[in-house]
Amino acid sequence: MASYTTLADLVEQGVAGKRVLVRSDLNVPLDGPADQKVITDDGRIRASVPTIRTLAEAGARVVVTAHLGRPKGAPDPAYSLRPVAARLGELLGRDVRFARDTVGESAHEVVHGLEDGQVAVLENVRFEAGETSKDDAERGAFADRLASLAELFVSDGFGVVHRKQASVYDVAQRLPHAVGGLVQAEIEVLRRLTVEPDRPYVVVLGGSKVSDKLGVIDNLLGKADKLLVGGGMVFTFLKAQGHEVGKSLLEEDQVEVCREYLQRAAESGVQLILPTDVVVDTAFPSGDVTPSPQVVAASEIPADSLGLDIGPESARAFAGALVGARTVFWNGPMGVFEVDAFADGTRAVAQALTEVTADGGLSVVGGGDSAAAVRTLGFAEDAFGHISTGGGASLEYLEGKELPGVRVLEDD
Ligand code: 3PG
Repeated sequence: MASYTTLADLVEQGVAGKRVLVRSDLNVPLDGPADQKVITDDGRIRASVPTIRTLAEAGARVVVTAHLGRPKGAPDPAYSLRPVAARLGELLGRDVRFARDTVGESAHEVVHGLEDGQVAVLENVRFEAGETSKDDAERGAFADRLASLAELFVSDGFGVVHRKQASVYDVAQRLPHAVGGLVQAEIEVLRRLTVEPDRPYVVVLGGSKVSDKLGVIDNLLGKADKLLVGGGMVFTFLKAQGHEVGKSLLEEDQVEVCREYLQRAAESGVQLILPTDVVVDTAFPSGDVTPSPQVVAASEIPADSLGLDIGPESARAFAGALVGARTVFWNGPMGVFEVDAFADGTRAVAQALTEVTADGGLSVVGGGDSAAAVRTLGFAEDAFGHISTGGGASLEYLEGKELPGVRVLEDD
């Protein structure tokens, strides 16, 4: 197994008085106009607190770098990290300084004004084109500027370790580095899903796009005992089974791939379970229209309707398929959980995962929307074995792909 310098090692070596650049994933959902943004789920900020606090308490001068959304490599007030920095300060119970730019005058002024134990957040790192550039030289030049702000680097943004970006990858090549507590904890849990998982091992996949999940389905068909599929991606599977799906989300170009997966599952003895009923409506829910949900058989979706959740019979079947599981990984909501009328399927799966945990099994909620869903639906975080902060990152790990942001931290 690869070895890393851990946060504890770094603290033991002494960080007092040192400027430590911490890459966190503070990419949280925000709502409202640019100047009055409200954070709708602060889970990732809370998950970032322990590493930052550990460093600050050890006397480091902590410089946090992070992204928010996908701005186009230039400043855009709609994606400012300012409200996120304010929330981080509340959670830390410390004053958090904010730099109005990432590597410019403000960043230098704020960083060099820090005293031991103080924390600063730099403006959205994706306001700089070099951050996400595919050109190694351009990315490297930006990484040089970012690295010049600090003496040490701690990689703690698990949600971005699958990105070969300057603040994740290149900076680690330029500064003595350590793996942050969050990244370390995430990798340890995910390893338990891939190296001899306790069986039965059940995977629940949802979310909108099947094309985002192809790699993971492909890999898990050889590893999981059961694969339950819901969410928007299920309609491409239903189509592959020969059903009409009305106006539901459909990826025509993936129908053939889904057909192949259905066949492979049947041949390999993996139970691939699809919903038998769905909740439909004639339009996607929007603020001004009251939903009129209707339950129909998955094989009889009316031409004028679209599926927005798995139906009650399927929710019971999915929950039943999770009974007795020793290991569960869940990524992607079963429906449009943000709207009450279409939240029951997601709620049933979340509830079933909590029961797996209560029975002593390992339940892992894989990042992004599913993590937001369990919190929005009011589940206690400790009712799950682990709630990952990384959607794409945890999927890529389960696909068996190497994560550049983790690889770069390994000791030579
Ligand atoms: C995420 O939201 O999954 C992470 O913050 C990564 O964001 P990205 O997909 O825009 O790189």
